Amino acid sequence: MNVDLVSGALGAEVNNFDLNSLSNKNFEEVNNLLLEHKVVFFRDQSLTLEKFIKIASMFGPIEEHAYVKGIEKYPQITRIIKAANEKNQWGEGWHSDVSYDLTPSKVIILKSLKIPPIGGDTVFSNMELALETLDEDIKKIIQNKRAIHTSNGSKFFVENYSKMESNGKIGEQYSNEHPIIRTHPETGKKILYVNPTYTKKIVGLPDDESSDLLNNIFKHQERLDLSCRFKWTENAVAILDNRSTQHYAIADFYPERGLGHERVMDRISIVGDKPF
Ligand SMILES: [Fe+2]
Repeated sequence: MNVDLVSGALGAEVNNFDLNSLSNKNFEEVNNLLLEHKVVFFRDQSLTLEKFIKIASMFGPIEEHAYVKGIEKYPQITRIIKAANEKNQWGEGWHSDVSYDLTPSKVIILKSLKIPPIGGDTVFSNMELALETLDEDIKKIIQNKRAIHTSNGSKFFVENYSKMESNGKIGEQYSNEHPIIRTHPETGKKILYVNPTYTKKIVGLPDDESSDLLNNIFKHQERLDLSCRFKWTENAVAILDNRSTQHYAIADFYPERGLGHERVMDRISIVGDKPF
């Protein structure tokens, strides 16, 4: 497989590979690229929905989204739609997906169906590097500490998007505690595992100390030298390791610059482990 690195921090674009030819034989090669680069991209992929599901299921059991209804006949697929005149898009703000779950998703796979002529890139960030480069004093404080991750409810996912539909679990809130430094279950590497969208509090610290410390960590996690930016084209596929990364969907849809265009992505997520 021929690979171009997207930045010095993470991300690899795999060239000349048709995901339709992914088999048990070459799966390990793709998974190794994923573990090494944390997000891998493939362009110009023509996949049926059945094939998309089949490829995703090679990474593990597929889970349905906590709040959003899947597409008809294929509830495993969440269709993320920014309607033409909407300025917001799903996934704005730094986060790792569903970190409020007891077992947050292992891998997320996105496939672009419709992309505005400009705008709507996604930025990914390497949380192993974030831990390595974190201030030593902060590292000492967060050793063996845990943090509470809480979902923002159903509205967060559907309210601003006319074409996104709730799965009916409107009032449900999910909250779980995870270690702030988690260990990658496949590579054994240490990962900084808090995010500004869902992490609300450090267990065992007074509120003000917890929020000061979290804000310092969040600021550090935003460092651009930990990130890579992907410009979508139609029929591109991104496979991301949701354990060791965060991502941010940029909503730079301004009049005359991408606004007025629909953006549509299909998303599948894979069941993860309980962070340890
Ligand atoms: Fe996301």
